[in-house]
Amino acid sequence: MMKRMGKKYALLTIAAVLFVTALAGLNFSEHASGKEKPRQPIIIQGPMPIEAENFAKRLDNVKVEKSGNFVFYKGKLDNYPVIVAKTGKGMENTAAATAVAIEKYDPAAIINQGTSGGHDPSLNVFDIVLGKRTVNLGSLKTPHLEENEGIEPTSWIPMDLMASEGSAGEDPNAEKARYFEGDEELLAAAHAVKDKYTKGKVVEGTIGSADVWNNEVDRINWFHENFGTSVEEMEGASAAQISKAYDVAFLGIRVLSNNKTNGGKYDPTTAAANQDYVYEVVKEYIAEKQGK
Ligand code: 5AD
Repeated sequence: MMKRMGKKYALLTIAAVLFVTALAGLNFSEHASGKEKPRQPIIIQGPMPIEAENFAKRLDNVKVEKSGNFVFYKGKLDNYPVIVAKTGKGMENTAAATAVAIEKYDPAAIINQGTSGGHDPSLNVFDIVLGKRTVNLGSLKTPHLEENEGIEPTSWIPMDLMASEGSAGEDPNAEKARYFEGDEELLAAAHAVKDKYTKGKVVEGTIGSADVWNNEVDRINWFHENFGTSVEEMEGASAAQISKAYDVAFLGIRVLSNNKTNGGKYDPTTAAANQDYVYEVVKEYIAEKQGK
């Protein structure tokens, strides 16, 4: 009996080894046949419907997917996978939409685009800022003041929440602004198609973000002088921070829809102009990627 059982196990073991070897062989032949890994998509984020849906209409074979209130338009541009993400406005929506998109779609790159308000008086409505750097303007620490000593916003200190895992309020090393760098290859693609944009100039600069719309010109000037901001909006730094957390290439591209520092009146048609330009940037980036 024992002898028979032993034989049976030996046969089972041989069968199992043969099965695993066969599977490995299958796997190998799949590689050998040159079957490619799926290409990583490029994600274009727009906060508002007019900033996302216009772009989505220009993609081929669009499939719409939703997560929470984030909408993803999955399609193709020049036969390359591109996903337009309608994130909703503000830092929280954008952070969550960025993390969800990275987890779901494993993108090669993320572009956050839309409108903004000028902090630099030399920039006009319709000019476009490429985010060489992006910074969170809402991350601040106030110095100590006693009761009845008032509020002094110009003495507030930038606070870097990524400086350490300890208390940012107590850490002197955290008393600085955190700048997220724009990706070199995305910047190069943006520069390569600059001349296709004829409604204003395209410049590199610093994009500042917070859930605040500043209309006080002295406060705007304070940010411009202390953080070096070219424009402000409400999403870029949040998407940049999460992209950095996952090591995904990132660039903010913002058109000025208004500029308080030089009397530039709000013009909502700038949103469409920016998308036309970003469309050219994405085409160029894809061409460069596929040329490699
Ligand atoms: N300040 C803040 N956000 C602005 N936006 C356009 N101009 C400004 C500005 N001056 C954008 C934000 C947000 C929406 C309110 O418009 O990014 O999505």
